Formats: sequence, structure tokens, C-alpha cells
Amino acid sequence: MTYQEVNKSRRSIRDFKKTKVSEELIHQILAEALEAPSSSNTQPFKVVVATGEILNKIGEELTEKYNISLSLKKKNIFQKLITAYKHKLKPNSIYKTIQGKYPGIYQERRVKTAIGLYKVLGISKKDRLERDLQMAKNFSFFGAPVAIWIFADPKMKYTSLVDTGLFMQNLMLSATDKGLGTCAQGALNLWREPVDTYFSIPEEYELVCGLSLGYPSSEKVNTYRPEKISVEELLIPLKEK
Ligand SMILES: Cc1cc2nc3c(=O)[nH]c(=O)nc-3n(C[C@H](O)[C@H](O)[C@H](O)COP(=O)(O)O)c2cc1C
Repeated sequence: MTYQEVNKSRRSIRDFKKTKVSEELIHQILAEALEAPSSSNTQPFKVVVATGEILNKIGEELTEKYNISLSLKKKNIFQKLITAYKHKLKPNSIYKTIQGKYPGIYQERRVKTAIGLYKVLGISKKDRLERDLQMAKNFSFFGAPVAIWIFADPKMKYTSLVDTGLFMQNLMLSATDKGLGTCAQGALNLWREPVDTYFSIPEEYELVCGLSLGYPSSEKVNTYRPEKISVEELLIPLKEK
């Protein structure tokens, strides 16, 4: 594929074939991701690659946490606190994702993107149960045989996030080039205990994002192409004199 083809065909994949991805291919993709630029070449990131039985176990534990967190809605504040404490539901502390509404225009774009996705899936916006079920699929990696968690060293402050993003994009484009699909998932940033159970993550590293990796299935969900803003909207105009 040419760069243009890879760039255009990379889209978030939310249904994967069970087909395994070879260790050699995963290694190649990670090596290509490492070609990304980083601030003073510090490369302040590390990754966990989970497959097979360990991935299944992490998926089960994350799904359990998600289901318990859903059940909190029906509880009073006291029960909420006890349940959250007992099941370690406190979200990831340093690299937080926004819980609830996004500010201003970002909520509008978010809703538009979500409605487009639900339309492809045949889910009505009002169907909370179906939407929760779709959300739950994040925690079984949309059926992908590989999941990758990206950790960064917060001592490198904001550049650790910039560098991690560049690394992730290289990874996703490299995977696309090999006929694979990916979905970056903030959802996999919520709880890290299940990953910590199986991997020796250096203490100073914080979880930034997870992503699923595998061969895309032919399910309709993978045809979704959310609209991007135009170059005109992107550009900041000159000040008017
Ligand atoms: C940091 C980050 C977090 C994301 N989290 C999720 C997620 O938890 N679940 C999901 O289905 N998609 C997630 N996505 C995918 C976005 O929804 C997707 O990139 C966006 O809608 C644009 O679509 P495209 O990737 O197909 O171009 C995430 C993407 C990024 C970059």
C-alpha cells in the first residue's frame, strides 16, 4: 500500500476475526512504531502485549469491573462508595479520561460520531441497554486476539503524552499496512489492576491508552467512516486589521 492508501484505510476497527497474529508480525509492528519521533529521543513509553489465555483473563476481569460499575447507578452514595472500594473501581489516577460530558464543541463532535456509529449498528440513541452492551465490547477487545497497553513516564510531563500519541499512530499505521486493524481505546485506560496482575510494569509508568489489534472482520461496524473536520475548520485565520 502507498502511504495515502494506508492513511486513508486506517479506521477504528470494532469487530475482529479470531485469526491469530504471529509473534513475528507483532514484533515488526512494534519495531516500526519505534521509528516515531519523540522529544529529545527520550521514548518515555513501554508497552504490554497480551494474547491468548492471559488476554482472556484480563478481558474477564475488566468486563466484571465494567458490569459492576454499571450497577452503581442504582445504588445510593454509601453503597456506591463501598462497592467502588471493594472492587477497586477508582479510575486510573494520572492520565485521566473525561467522565461524563465533554466541554463545548467536543461534546457535539462526540455525539455526532457516536450517533453515526449506532446508526451503522442499528442501535437507537435511546436504547441504553444496547449502548451499554456495545460499550462492554471494549473490555473483550471487540474479539481481537491481541491487546496492547501503552504506558508512559509522567516525569516527562506533557511530552510523554505527545510522544506516546506519535508512537501509537505509527503503530496503528504499521498494523494497517500489514492488513491488520486497530482500535485505540480510552476505555482500556480506566482500570489497570487486571493488567498489573499479569505483567511487571515498572512502578513509575502510568497507563495512557490501550488498543486492540487483529484482522478486521467483514461486520458492518467496520464500514463506519466518521466525518473529519475540514482543513478550513482546522486553520486558525490571521487577525483582522
Ligand atoms: C485516545 C483515543 C481513545 C479512544 N477510545 C475509544 C474507546 O474507548 N472505544 C472505542 O470504540 N473507540 C475509541 N477510540 C476511537 C475513536 O472513537 C476514533 O478514533 C474516532 O471516532 C475517529 O474514527 P477513526 O479512528 O475511524 O478515524 C479512541 C481513539 C483515541 C485516539
